[in-house]
Amino acid sequence: MLLLQTDFERWNQPGPFNPGHEDLACNECHLKTKSSVRQQLQANVQYLLGQRKTEADFYYHKIDNKHCIACHNMDKNLHSSYRFNEPRFNEVREKIHPEQCVSCHKEHIGQRISQFKISDCKLCHKELKIKNDPISVPHDELIERKDWQTCLGCHDYHGNHDMVLEQTVGRAIKQEQLLGYFSKAESPYRGPIITKARSTRYEK
Ligand code: HEC
Ligand code: HEC
Ligand code: HEC
Ligand code: HEC
Ligand code: HEC
Repeated sequence: MLLLQTDFERWNQPGPFNPGHEDLACNECHLKTKSSVRQQLQANVQYLLGQRKTEADFYYHKIDNKHCIACHNMDKNLHSSYRFNEPRFNEVREKIHPEQCVSCHKEHIGQRISQFKISDCKLCHKELKIKNDPISVPHDELIERKDWQTCLGCHDYHGNHDMVLEQTVGRAIKQEQLLGYFSKAESPYRGPIITKARSTRYEK
């Protein structure tokens, strides 16, 4: 069984690495747990008996935000995952799970962004209205026209690019280009990356 295997050489990747991850070693993400298999078996028995709140990770940690943030600590992240655990996001959590990196960035599929649709901004920004709106077609009008595919044409989701926002809607990055980036193409955003990926890994 995979979970009991100790050497990654014998693993098969379930699919190609996502762009950017080609040079990472398996154990930069798949970390062994420190407790022994015996301790974990006991913990899982306790879980089954209702004495523990969570099932213990079995030999390898299940990958979660901590593992990703260890290398991608975007200091100015406009959409930090943790904030979407608040109750007011219950409904959207059921739809797209914005509280977890791997909801939108599923690994081993050879793509940057998965499951997130360009129009998904509408799940949280329907009520947006901006005073003295500087853009050529004001935000509330874009929303009324259901022009949700324009949003990512000016804003990046994490705010991790140092760029002055465009004000002319006609100059927003086009949908095809964004979808290319979701898959494998180069980033269409102008500005340099603010917080670059590190190569420090998460240690529990
Ligand atoms: C950038 C992080 C990352 C790297 C590097 C990585 N993986 Fe994964 N891998 C994941 C994520 C996320 C999952 C989803 C399941 C999970 O959370 O454990 C996964 C799942 C898997 C699974 C399926 C496990 C299961 O329980 O279904 C296998 C097998 C696997 N990876 C093998 C590999 C191998 C082999 C390598 C090295 C060649 C590798 N991975 C490198 C992130 C990574
Ligand atoms: C060991 C460090 C490390 C870990 C762990 C890691 N990454 Fe990465 N990631 C990188 C590096 C390095 C790049 C390439 C960055 C570059 O080219 O500028 C990258 C690239 C990416 C990109 C593409 C960026 C682009 O070029 O558009 C995404 C998306 C991403 N990582 C998400 C994740 C997610 C989600 C996880 C957790 C499952 C994760 N990463 C775990 C180091 C890591
Ligand atoms: C709700 C969907 C969603 C979630 C959840 C999400 N992302 Fe992203 N991510 C995106 C989209 C859309 C982009 C492309 C726009 C951009 O570059 O900001 C992106 C881009 C990126 C990039 C490339 C931008 C850059 O800085 O080079 C990285 C790295 C990344 N995400 C990492 C993460 C990590 C780490 C997490 C969890 C803390 C995460 N993402 C959670 C949707 C998501
Ligand atoms: C899961 C809900 C959710 C989704 C999906 C979402 N956002 Fe947000 N967004 C938020 C929240 C919450 C804030 C923070 C607002 C605040 O601080 O009051 C925010 C903040 C922002 C900000 C920064 C506002 C500021 O004050 O600087 C921008 C820009 C933004 N979102 C654009 C987008 C775009 C574009 C999309 C689609 C790609 C998107 N958002 C998708 C919930 C979401
Ligand atoms: C033509 C480029 C452009 C497009 C398209 C665009 N925005 Fe903006 N957006 C801006 C600019 C410029 C600002 C003002 C930033 C400032 O003054 O701080 C802004 C501000 C915002 C803010 C911050 C509001 C605040 O309170 O400060 C949010 C949230 C936002 N936009 C979301 C969206 C969403 C959602 C869409 C899609 C319906 C969208 N934007 C489409 C350029 C754009």
